[in-house]
Order: sequence, then C-alpha cells, then structure tokens
Amino acid sequence: MTLAYQRLGINIDHVATLRNARGGIHPDPVQAALLAEKTGADGITAHLREDRRHIVDSDISRLMAQLSRPLNLEMAAIDEMVEIALRTKPHACCLVPEKRTERTTEGGLEVAGDLARISDVAARLKQAGIRVSLFIEPDERQVRAAQAAGAPVIELHTGTYAEAGGGEGEQLNRIRSAAALAAEIGLECHAGHGLTYANVKPVAAIANIVELNIGHFLMGEALFVGLEASIREMRRLMDEARS
Ligand code: PXP
Repeated sequence: MTLAYQRLGINIDHVATLRNARGGIHPDPVQAALLAEKTGADGITAHLREDRRHIVDSDISRLMAQLSRPLNLEMAAIDEMVEIALRTKPHACCLVPEKRTERTTEGGLEVAGDLARISDVAARLKQAGIRVSLFIEPDERQVRAAQAAGAPVIELHTGTYAEAGGGEGEQLNRIRSAAALAAEIGLECHAGHGLTYANVKPVAAIANIVELNIGHFLMGEALFVGLEASIREMRRLMDEARS
C-alpha cells in the first residue's frame, strides 16, 4: 500500500550560519529557500533564535516577501518572538525550547510542566491565524499536553532516534506510538531533527507523520552535491519509504 504524500520542509538556518561566519551577505538563506522551493520543498523552516546566531529579523521579512510556499517560523515561546510572529504572520509557528548555551535544539518543549504559559502563547498566535505547532519529545505525556494547550500540530523531536543510530528499536517505537496517539486525538503530526539519508526512511514510513523538517544534513551535503541534488535525494528516499 502506498502511503499519502509526506511533505518536506527545508530548514535554511545553516546557510545563515555560514553567512554570519564572515558577517556579510553571502551565502543568502533566502536564495537557498527559493532554490529549495523550486526543487520541490513543500515549505521553508527558519529558526529565529534569541541570540540571532543564524537567521536574523531581516531574513524573516525577506522570506515573507519572497516565498511562495508556507514559512514555518521556529521560535521560543517568549513575548519578543510572539510580537515578531504577530507582526510578520508566518503560515506556522513551531514553538521550541531554547537555551543560549546549546548548539542546537536539545530535547523537546516541556509542555506538560508549563501548560498555562504554552497555552497562552498558542492562543495568541492562533488568534492571529497562525498555525501553532509544538516541538516535543515522542512522549505520551507531552502529546496529551500539546492537545490540552490547544495546539493543532505537534512536531516530534527525532534527535534521540538519530543519535541512537536510527533504524528499528526503542526510539523508533517511541516515535511510532507518539504519532499514533497524535492521530487518535486529532493532532497533525510532523517530525524532524538530525534526519539524514541514512536514518530518514523508517520515520518517513510512519503513516501518521505528514511532514518532515530537515536542515543541517541537507546543507552539509549540498557542499558536495549541490542543494538541488541533496533535496532531490531526500525526497526520493521519503517517497521510496512510503511506496
Ligand atoms: N525541526 C525543529 C523544530 C528544529 O528545531 C530543527 C533544528 O533547527 C529541525 C527540525 C531540523 O533539524 P536538522 O537541522 O537537524 O535537520
């Protein structure tokens, strides 16, 4: 049985990381986003961090002005970011935990333990017509809390699965169970973090996951084969996994 098409969102943060290493304008993450769109990306993801270490505010405005596909703005659940989101009105906001000292998003958002605050942020974004997604661990408690917080979408953190080597095993089963629970209680389920050619297929094969968001590996691979080729290969593997 062929599963329904799974969307691929391309995270362009690390084009900005490279640009910022020299403080100039090259390489341009917006140019990468436009090329990703042309190559079949179903959406573009960008994480505006509090410390602006990669994507900066002007990137978000330029993306909003130039993209034809939906922008998924990843951000911390803090007032500064909510105000930016309400001003720029991206298609979606994915709320992520953020620590200044971390290299990347370590672990999922603690929704269950911070329900009132996350619900309030979700409500403010939803009121502005923004689709709210919560980046959480594949854990029953967090999936149920996401529903309680009023988020229509969750994104399951696949970092632990990736670090464990990918493939069959406990971590994949956790993702499967969380995705099944999400479907059962009416949440749209996405996944991402640490996905590569080597580990994407078992996650892409989970019927209830309708979107993957992938960045770092594709940008690294693009150095060797070009961005279009790296995105095309990821797309091919996802389609193969679902056929
Ligand atoms: N989804 C979310 C919510 C993320 O924070 C990230 C990393 O910024 C990704 C997906 C993409 O992860 P990676 O860059 O490892 O592919």
